[in-house]
Amino acid sequence: MSNSKTYLITSALPYVNGVKHIGNVAGSLLPADVFARYQRLNGSKVVFVCGTDDHGTTTEIAALKEGISSKEYSDKYHEIQREIYSKWNLSFDIFSRTSSIENHHTTCEMFQLMYSNGLISQSSLKIPYCLVDQRFIADRYIEGTCPNCSFDGARGDQCEKCGKLLDPIDLIKPRCNICKKDKIEFRESKHLFLDLFKLSDKLKEWLTKQTDWPVNARNFALQWIEGGLKPRCITRDLDWGVKVPLAGFENKVFYVWFDAPIGYISFTKQWALKDSNNRNWQEFWKNDQAQIIHFIGKDNIAFHSVIWPAMIMASGYCNLPTRVQAYEFLNLEGKKFSTSRNWGIDAKEALDWFDADYWRYYLISILPERSDANFSWKEFQSAANSDLADVYGNLIHRCLTFTHSKFGGLVPKPTEQSQWTENQIKFYEQFQITCKNVKELMNNYKLQEALRVIMDFARQANKFFSDSAPWKLECDSNIANDASTTIFLTVNACRSIALLLYPFVPSSSIKAFKYLNGQNIELCSIDESASLMVESGTKIAEKEVLTPLFTKILDEKIEMYSTLVSSRSKSI
Ligand code: MF3
Ligand code: ZN
Repeated sequence: MSNSKTYLITSALPYVNGVKHIGNVAGSLLPADVFARYQRLNGSKVVFVCGTDDHGTTTEIAALKEGISSKEYSDKYHEIQREIYSKWNLSFDIFSRTSSIENHHTTCEMFQLMYSNGLISQSSLKIPYCLVDQRFIADRYIEGTCPNCSFDGARGDQCEKCGKLLDPIDLIKPRCNICKKDKIEFRESKHLFLDLFKLSDKLKEWLTKQTDWPVNARNFALQWIEGGLKPRCITRDLDWGVKVPLAGFENKVFYVWFDAPIGYISFTKQWALKDSNNRNWQEFWKNDQAQIIHFIGKDNIAFHSVIWPAMIMASGYCNLPTRVQAYEFLNLEGKKFSTSRNWGIDAKEALDWFDADYWRYYLISILPERSDANFSWKEFQSAANSDLADVYGNLIHRCLTFTHSKFGGLVPKPTEQSQWTENQIKFYEQFQITCKNVKELMNNYKLQEALRVIMDFARQANKFFSDSAPWKLECDSNIANDASTTIFLTVNACRSIALLLYPFVPSSSIKAFKYLNGQNIELCSIDESASLMVESGTKIAEKEVLTPLFTKILDEKIEMYSTLVSSRSKSI
């Protein structure tokens, strides 16, 4: 059952502030989970790590607003997020946080190596300082008039109106967005830089070889390198973060994007120590046979396909990523998710409204693999009602109720295989074909298509059942084409489909396995889906237990939630 593959799987670490919307879930957490669950069924050795991205200005400011310390704030939202993700059934082997001691240690360790390898330089910058708040202010919390288009609400990092990238010092009449006053002065401050340009050739050579990466991740990285890499500032004048272990930098911390990806490693170390199972983090990070796979949304490409690999090269700390699996964005009814405009569905309320499997199924069915995808309430409803309820749920229900009414709840014995009809033989072949196709697609990160192939098989199984019309047939396995063979094959199809669907809709598959009196699904191998694993004589669950796997979503509910989501949004 086990193969020799080893996977370290990560999903982008969600910022600790606030509750994420379903676009964040769809864009990296969920596909990473589906892939991790699949690889476990495939017999690979898998560690799936995630955690909150705790540091940075955004956290400091959110904490200020709630009147608590950054530490208290991130303790609180770390727990909130952990709970939500567990309800989404995200099967992390560890869900840690970048503010953990281990992450501070590993960050300092990696930095020291980059420093001694001569890849860190120093230089002075003019940083906006607010005389009212008595602190340095991060670029995006400075506001003023755009020198390019004269828009008055331009931020220090970029003008939202004309899109121009800015420096706070470019702004006309800069003001502080924390206290709203204009008591800003620009103070000299010494900072540390990662000398990206020294790594240009090495990065380019390495990226050029990654021909099987999603094109968005690879092309973006190569184009950026082509345009010339500059030293990248890795420190900030803040309190909340990893302190810089270098004389003269005592009052500074690393930029949040410096310590965040290091979390991937430090969380693996924490996982290895979680119980005394003799686990070794290096088996995942320093082993050429192990695959390191980062699932991310496209806004994280620059960091994962250029800066993070550069940090690894500069420190020589571990292996480079095997793959950066980047997704495009998910829109909601044609418009971008936006926290400031209150346009979105958050990951918590989504589950208050409908079970996780409905979301998981629909979101993977529209996974933005090649271009932006769109969430539509109508399609969501139809995915739930037509695919999940009418196809998958109905297949299981009609087949198992029939087993009760005609065979006393015992899986019947089929006729000799040599007596099978052409239709039955063809249907059995579909088991093998489906299993083989799904495996191939999943191994190549084509989750959306794999899901479609499984659903097609479920449709064929329904058709097989209807076309065979077992209610018209004899129940005698001595006769060719009797009802026993139809039921035997359909029950087995139910098991195969439940197993194949497990990475996508785990709760329903676990339930389906209970109905079939199957073993613990997590201990099964994906290859079983090619075979007839349910033996005749198997007793299926009692009739009373066999409630439909999915209830249909009524129009009223869709109407209610879509109206709620639209009515609370603001236009700017
Ligand atoms: N917190 C970042 C975001 O949500 C992602 C960080 S991923 C990591 O965009 F690499 F830094 F870990
Ligand atoms: Zn201020």
